[in-house]
Amino acid sequence: MFSKTKHDQSVMERDIQLDNIPKHIAIIMDGNGRWAKKRGLPRVAGHREGMNTIRRTVRQANKYGVKILTLYAFSTENWKRPRPEVEFLMRLPERFLSKELPELIEQNVRVRITGEKDKLPEYTKRAVEKAVAETAHNDGLILNFALNYGSRSEMIQGIQSICRDVKDNNLSIDEIDEACFTGRLMTHDLDDPDLLIRTSGEIRLSNFMLWQLAYAEFWFTNVLWPDFKEDDFQEAILVYQNRQRRYGGV
Ligand code: IPE
Ligand code: IPE
Ligand code: MG
Repeated sequence: MFSKTKHDQSVMERDIQLDNIPKHIAIIMDGNGRWAKKRGLPRVAGHREGMNTIRRTVRQANKYGVKILTLYAFSTENWKRPRPEVEFLMRLPERFLSKELPELIEQNVRVRITGEKDKLPEYTKRAVEKAVAETAHNDGLILNFALNYGSRSEMIQGIQSICRDVKDNNLSIDEIDEACFTGRLMTHDLDDPDLLIRTSGEIRLSNFMLWQLAYAEFWFTNVLWPDFKEDDFQEAILVYQNRQRRYGGV
């Protein structure tokens, strides 16, 4: 429910239909570097500022009753960045969670990770595993960080696991269907995203959930991630609510 405290609801917020909220919203949080550059700051200052947007967005998703919020935090391609930036990004989960975990617990949020955890530095793994464990019994919003995630690599691993089962005679080729493949992905326990948001004006997927986004609605904004505010999120939901999802039908 909306809290009706001292702040009036914005016009946009009043238009949101609470019975048609996207269940799973996925966000490609982009534009941190450019945000910093515009201010003459090092790129990492944008990443730091981006954490505030994460806090705001989680609160809002929770308020509207979104079930799953997936945030693309680090791609398998982001290792190409200069080492100090990669290291800063790998320190962010620790920084974010050490500050935010109590509030996440209070908000009944369940933290989970999608991505190749084994390749993360120990300190990153420790921070996320702690958050996952300490929120495991919460049954509210699922806050899913895509961390060291790449869709192509995920699909290749899915194919390998299917091939192994076929080779070991645990699966016949005829049994390979969409559900079987979906079940081999890192997101096997999550419904597909209904709405994809990407900030910063880039109109591409950058190797994000290529299979899972088959029927998602896409919404792009020029706003840079650190500048992404409540009204941007509301606008995305309103646009979504005015789309007609046809899934190939009429
Ligand atoms: C998004 O911001 C954060 C990550 C990819 C980790 P960028 O760092 O990509 O910012 P730009 O795109 O360079 O502005
Ligand atoms: C996508 O952003 C990855 C994340 C937001 C984590 P990038 O900034 O890495 O994507 P490209 O390189 O512009 O496609
Ligand atoms: Mg970028």
